[in-house]
Amino acid sequence: MPSMIAVERVSRVFEGKRGHVLALDGIDFEVGEHEVVAVIGRSGCGKSTLLRIVAGLLAPTRGRVLVAGEPVTRPRRDISVMFQRPALLPWRSVLGNVLLPVEVLGLDRRRHVARAHELLELVGLQRFATRLPHELSGGMQQRVALCRSIIQSPAVLLMDEPFSALDALTRTELSGELQRIWREQPLTVVFVTHSVEEAVVLADRVVVLTSRPGRLRKLVDVGLPRPRTARAAGVAAIGGLLYELLEVAG
Ligand SMILES: Nc1ncnc2c1ncn2[C@@H]1O[C@H](COP(=O)(O)OP(=O)(O)O)[C@@H](O)[C@H]1O
Ligand SMILES: [Mg+2]
Repeated sequence: MPSMIAVERVSRVFEGKRGHVLALDGIDFEVGEHEVVAVIGRSGCGKSTLLRIVAGLLAPTRGRVLVAGEPVTRPRRDISVMFQRPALLPWRSVLGNVLLPVEVLGLDRRRHVARAHELLELVGLQRFATRLPHELSGGMQQRVALCRSIIQSPAVLLMDEPFSALDALTRTELSGELQRIWREQPLTVVFVTHSVEEAVVLADRVVVLTSRPGRLRKLVDVGLPRPRTARAAGVAAIGGLLYELLEVAG
């Protein structure tokens, strides 16, 4: 599998009032094209920092990140980011929100309107295209944000705890939809989660970070057949291994 993302000995120091904080220390791993990688670790271990560095939103103190062979030095149109809150524009329709990157990037509108409808259909929101965000539930809004983050066909999708504000049932539905979307349009994905179960269900491999400083504790191959659910054979066993790694990770 050709490498799409290379994280090369990335460290990040934050300067605080009480001195330096070494948030990430020498993180080194690769993500193959069309691979899905989850990042887990305790709160404060540097997951968001790592994701922001891969996104080009934050510079590493040492090391570098390559995406598609090019060093990441700023946000790029081939790298899309999705956060915990959907942050939709309240005065724009669902369709208008999904098309926002198309306008910002100056892409062909007509072609992307068709694609926006396809994406909305994939997440079951085709009937809501003309609605306003406040008319939708939190889960529906996050689906809109997902469509918006892939409308321009990025090579890489980065997600920072994208489901953590949602209830358990909605999370399960969304993880099913994500797997469907990834089958229809292959993407290289890195997502941060604090749910071990979500990591096992969605990821090909799991990056386990230690805390203070964040170091690479282990890369775990999930290797279970897809589509997966939380109750699929093998999910509990790998989940158990990840919990163990998180505990000894301190
Ligand atoms: N902008 C910042 N300034 C100072 N310290 C920061 C900043 N961002 C993150 N940190 C520190 O870096 C560490 C990792 O933070 P973060 O990446 O947000 O962790 P996580 O997402 O795993 O919870 C924490 O100790 C946090 O306090
Ligand atoms: Mg975080």
